[in-house]
Amino acid sequence: MKYKVAPSILSADFTQLGNQIREIEEAGAEYLHFDVMDGMFVPNISFGIPVMKSIRSATGQVMDAHLMVQDPIRYVDAFKEAGADLITVHFEACPDVRACLEKIKEAGIKAGLSICPATPVEVVKEYLDIVDMILVMSVVPGAGGQAFIPESLDRIKEVREMIAQSGREIDIQVDGGIKVSNAKDVLDAGANILVAGSAIFKGDLAKNTKDFLEIMKDYE
Ligand code: DX5
Ligand code: ZN
Repeated sequence: MKYKVAPSILSADFTQLGNQIREIEEAGAEYLHFDVMDGMFVPNISFGIPVMKSIRSATGQVMDAHLMVQDPIRYVDAFKEAGADLITVHFEACPDVRACLEKIKEAGIKAGLSICPATPVEVVKEYLDIVDMILVMSVVPGAGGQAFIPESLDRIKEVREMIAQSGREIDIQVDGGIKVSNAKDVLDAGANILVAGSAIFKGDLAKNTKDFLEIMKDYE
């Protein structure tokens, strides 16, 4: 299992976006977490296809699209064409979860399924035959800079146990309120991909990225 940090550009300075992406990539961040918010599934609106298209040409990172979007099947092809390597959709936003995951796989990219903090972890079990990643949200989706919900640790453990029983190699990504101070607890619970927005993009981006990678070294 590979351990990765996925900086969320939602917290970036958009007047410096290209420079900041280069900075975290050079510091060793192999994923770029791209938070799409539609103002329907979550109250906030962030960014979408044109932004992904432009940054796709600027980075070799894994473009990790987190679609906080109602009925996301409508956008799978567009985000694939814009350069997504991985598309994560919300269980709570899909009229037909399996159809959406199948559409992502048919597009030839990796499929992630995300659950909000209030959603029982058991709902992911029936999709463990098809997903490449489970995203356990550790904040209520819709904004960066929120506090980590501590109950997430037990949820991560439960998902890791379900994955172990499935016999498949499936990543667990955790997203929301991740800091250097809680990263070890989240990794110990069974996560292997950490999303960090404000913890990376506020202050010294390169140092912040390297601090996470340093913690992850003990897990390789
Ligand atoms: C929240 C997003 C997260 C968020 C993370 O809806 O999915 O990716 O940007 O930001 P921090 O790390 O600041 O909580
Ligand atoms: Zn996210």
